[in-house]
Amino acid sequence: MALRKILLNGDPALRKPARPVVKFNRRLHMLLDDLAQTMYDATGCGLAAPQVGILQRAVVIDLDEEGSELIELVNPEIIASEGEDEAIEGCLSIPDIRGHVTRPQKVKVRAQDRFGEFFELETEGLLARCVCHEIDHLQGCLYIDIMSRQATEEEIEAANDEKKQT
Ligand code: NI
Repeated sequence: MALRKILLNGDPALRKPARPVVKFNRRLHMLLDDLAQTMYDATGCGLAAPQVGILQRAVVIDLDEEGSELIELVNPEIIASEGEDEAIEGCLSIPDIRGHVTRPQKVKVRAQDRFGEFFELETEGLLARCVCHEIDHLQGCLYIDIMSRQATEEEIEAANDEKKQT
């Protein structure tokens, strides 16, 4: 496993659509392992392959809460969503700021695991938010494109969201 460099806003790779993963091989496994290590190192709760310059539809998420575990999503698609929820969001590619973003409260996602097996995942709250945020990365979309406004220092402190960058 190796740490990869997280690209920052302004890098063209963050704005390009990622391609579907077609080979579920050692190279993909290395990418997923590196994404997880890089995410943990940056104390983030999610990371998408385009954020390290790899334009493939692969993301990792770990809320690092009690009972949470590492989630790997390959070729994820949102197949259902429900409700609406506004919260403060951050992104490892856009350090130093946070923004208010409205996302679905619940999201059902269909994806493949690292071996190509399809599965479905029902998510809500922060996990649903992370899933949407990471899938947006695969489309070249950043949360600043859809935020209602930037969060103030006071709001960021109140949210205590050290771990909520994705
Ligand atoms: Ni992000």
